Amino acid sequence: MSHPIRILCVCLGNICRSPTAEAALRAELGARAEVDSAGTGGWHVGDAPYPPMQAAGRQLGLAMAELRARQVRPADFGRFDLILAMDRQNLRDLQALDPGGGARLALYLDPLGGGDVPDPYYTRDFDGVAALIVQAAQAWSEQL
Ligand code: 4NP
Repeated sequence: MSHPIRILCVCLGNICRSPTAEAALRAELGARAEVDSAGTGGWHVGDAPYPPMQAAGRQLGLAMAELRARQVRPADFGRFDLILAMDRQNLRDLQALDPGGGARLALYLDPLGGGDVPDPYYTRDFDGVAALIVQAAQAWSEQL
């Protein structure tokens, strides 16, 4: 087998969507991937995932309590094969940071037809977003 694909999930705060995506991809892909997550913003660096998001993930069997937020850094574009943005603003922010020549950038929802993972920090629909994130992780597992 070739080396595990290295995937970085990115959202704004790294406390809601991207840590959930990290846990969901890790669960779906197992040894086929090494998965991490980060935020484009730095407000929550060092924080655990937002408790209501952790609770919604737990309902779906996702382990998130040990994760800690960090900010995207330029070196990530060389360390990861695939960087998955949770929404189109995250993708634009990543494109602006990208030194080029490294990771493939894509939307996390591309296998489901694209678009944005709604931010539950604002919508408060933690269960709906957790279910959507797991559904997309299953779709990535079929594609990769
Ligand atoms: P996330 O949600 O990008 O899915 O982690 C957010 C969490 C916190 C903030 C924004 C989005 N915030 O501005 O503090």
